[in-house]
Amino acid sequence: MATLIGAIATSHTPTIGFAQDAARRDDPAWKPIFKAYAPVKAWLDANRPDVLLVVYNDHVTSFFFDHYSPFALGIGSSYAPADEGGGPRRLPPVAGHVELAAHVGRCMVAEEFDLSFFQDKPLDHGVFSPLSAMWPCENGWPGAIVPLQLGVLQCPVPTPRRCFRFGQALRRAIDSFPADLRVALIATGGLSHQVHGERCGFNNPAWDHEFLDRFESDPESLLDVTLAEFARRGGYESAEVVMWLLVRGALAKRLRRIHRAYCLPSMTAIATAIYEEEPEPQAVPLDKVAYLAQSHHQTAGLEQLAGTYPFTLEASVRAYRLNRFLHQLIDPAFRTRFAADPQACYADAGLSDEERRLVDGRDWIGMIRYGVIFFLLEKLGAMQGISNLHIYAAMRGETLETFMQTRNAPGALYSVAGDSTAIEELGKKHEE
Ligand code: FE2
Repeated sequence: MATLIGAIATSHTPTIGFAQDAARRDDPAWKPIFKAYAPVKAWLDANRPDVLLVVYNDHVTSFFFDHYSPFALGIGSSYAPADEGGGPRRLPPVAGHVELAAHVGRCMVAEEFDLSFFQDKPLDHGVFSPLSAMWPCENGWPGAIVPLQLGVLQCPVPTPRRCFRFGQALRRAIDSFPADLRVALIATGGLSHQVHGERCGFNNPAWDHEFLDRFESDPESLLDVTLAEFARRGGYESAEVVMWLLVRGALAKRLRRIHRAYCLPSMTAIATAIYEEEPEPQAVPLDKVAYLAQSHHQTAGLEQLAGTYPFTLEASVRAYRLNRFLHQLIDPAFRTRFAADPQACYADAGLSDEERRLVDGRDWIGMIRYGVIFFLLEKLGAMQGISNLHIYAAMRGETLETFMQTRNAPGALYSVAGDSTAIEELGKKHEE
């Protein structure tokens, strides 16, 4: 079973990464940052977590307002540092822990915390600023991460209480993960700062220290603080400390503080802290067997349906490259390129030999078995005048005629193409 070994709480300001990359270790302004991270580094080195579950927010880098979610869980197998305008930092990509992420995703939805899920997105300073300061990566990162992105930039944002409860459920998810794994939680963001408007440059060390005290010993007293109150006391952007409250919800009532530091070199108050848990003799242990069964309750039985291929988080990650390739078919320019030179398109997308064979052979059932979702097959059909009915018949291993006889509208051929002329012609021919 997985073990939660403790939590680190840290700011994620870009200055941390900047000071690190610019080798400003001895610069008096930046020195306190490195001093603050030294115990964090030592704790990670001594406790050797396999996975860091990092609660962070993106800064309009990989998540934009065309689709903005309150809670987005990273399920991918690798995360590169993002280009935030001036090129990405020279850090290696960090591995994602797909199995833990999928398990957490399943458990959270079973707990009625509906999430969005992402992969193939680079991570910005929200993750890599603190990560590079506390986990040495010269020879590759020491472990994997599971990033959890909170949409805190566009109001409304999740309330502190919602975040805390999310954390409580997250803890049950981690505790019930069946494999042996050492997991540490990382809360990022804050503390006091405001980076926009005439009020930019606002800080409030007194509030920061009060927040740190209450976070540690009386977190529930922070759950009714409004976004406006966080903004008033700590600066507008400091309201991202709801991410700390999420992590606090996952931890025991009583904590042992291993480390706490605070400095204010520039715009953002930088706090770093390490917490381990005090035993809770009264706590009712989680019935992990029942909890796991509950997390699979909605999908239990699907595996017995012959000819059915559930599109799970694991399938989504496994077949991502091929699904992504086919998704490009919504772009007319790609369709033109693909029709003219499919081999070049396969090469551009880095498709494997098997993936090329599946697409090239229009092996509809092969693609389904591989993990392609049906709704991309109908796009591939639509681009070349193949109707959905052709695809259905092929998946069943039947002729079109045989399959059409099972339908109430035996002459109806259709596809998702906007121009249905080609399909209508086909349908007419079929009826003749
Ligand atoms: Fe931030």
